[in-house]
Amino acid sequence: MKDGKHITLAIETSCDETSVALMGDGREILSNVISSQIKIHQVFGGVVPEIASRHHLDNINPVLDQALARSGCKLEDVDLYGVTIGPGLVGALLIGLATAKAYAFATEKPLIGVNHMQGHISANYIENKELTPPFLSLVVSGGHTELIDVKGYNEFEILGRTRDDAAGEAFDKVARVLGLGYPGGPMIDKSSKEGNPSGIEFKRVMLERDSLDFSFSGLKTGVLNYLNTEKLKGQAINVEDVAASFQQAVVEVLVTKAMMASEQTGRDKLALAGGVAANSLLRKLLKEACDKAGITLYCPSIELCTDNAAMIGCAAYYRYLYGQVDGLDLDAHPSLELL
Ligand code: KG4
Ligand code: ZN
Repeated sequence: MKDGKHITLAIETSCDETSVALMGDGREILSNVISSQIKIHQVFGGVVPEIASRHHLDNINPVLDQALARSGCKLEDVDLYGVTIGPGLVGALLIGLATAKAYAFATEKPLIGVNHMQGHISANYIENKELTPPFLSLVVSGGHTELIDVKGYNEFEILGRTRDDAAGEAFDKVARVLGLGYPGGPMIDKSSKEGNPSGIEFKRVMLERDSLDFSFSGLKTGVLNYLNTEKLKGQAINVEDVAASFQQAVVEVLVTKAMMASEQTGRDKLALAGGVAANSLLRKLLKEACDKAGITLYCPSIELCTDNAAMIGCAAYYRYLYGQVDGLDLDAHPSLELL
């Protein structure tokens, strides 16, 4: 405890960010140190799992020491340890998990395993102190695209999910074929600002009537077919127009389905979460649609959209409050589901 608050030390190492945060009573960030490996993986055009694990191993102790120092807390102030246990790269997850276990064991404090996607949703609690469940969440990341009914802090129902590619994955793949580099989402976002969003008509895949599922692989193929056809015709490609038209198609589908979910459930609060939540067009069009429908939209700030330990600390605190404490036999689960 410090200043009458529970102190959570949280660790996130599910992909290519080594992050450690200290949180006061779950929603207050005391420190949130994020060491990104983006530059290391950029040359390979994507995250190389083995390289990611090795860098987490090098980074975890310095990042943890820095997070403690910046928070003004001492190790004795920490009341609980939260750590991402999945979904993610197993070798990367194990580095964070082993570290959290070692600290929890040595200091005899509770250990709480956190689902990474619960973490992304929880990012919304940090900057919106008034937000409480129930609400709807649109979770859009590199590996997931889901519409979730958040019934309680630790109670979720998945209303719809992608049947093939995740939205972030589609952004990354299209950016690669356009030669925009990795990670693709921010590059497409930037490039789109110079392009015409209705320049090329890509198909919006809505699936069956009333379905809240998504499918983005057809759109990705549509972009590839367009590029190949234009090349065969000897036409120059306007990269900005392709990026803007692709982004417009993805975002329109996401916004339409989120509005359908609000209508079907009657929920009047919507929280955006995951790396793709940083997308400027998604934030803009979703805000417009929510305002029109009388729905309150919550969006984390850009830093809290992408992977960070603060969101994991927030989720860990609410699991702890509800007695969901784990033992030292806690394991990593690369394909962990949110239940
Ligand atoms: O949540 P996150 O940091 O990691 C996972 O849990 O997957 O999400 C990473 C994904 C990547 O696919 C990245 O391209 C995408 O989020 N992303 C964006 C933007 N910033 C990050 N996608 C679209 N627009 C952005 N501005
Ligand atoms: Zn993530």
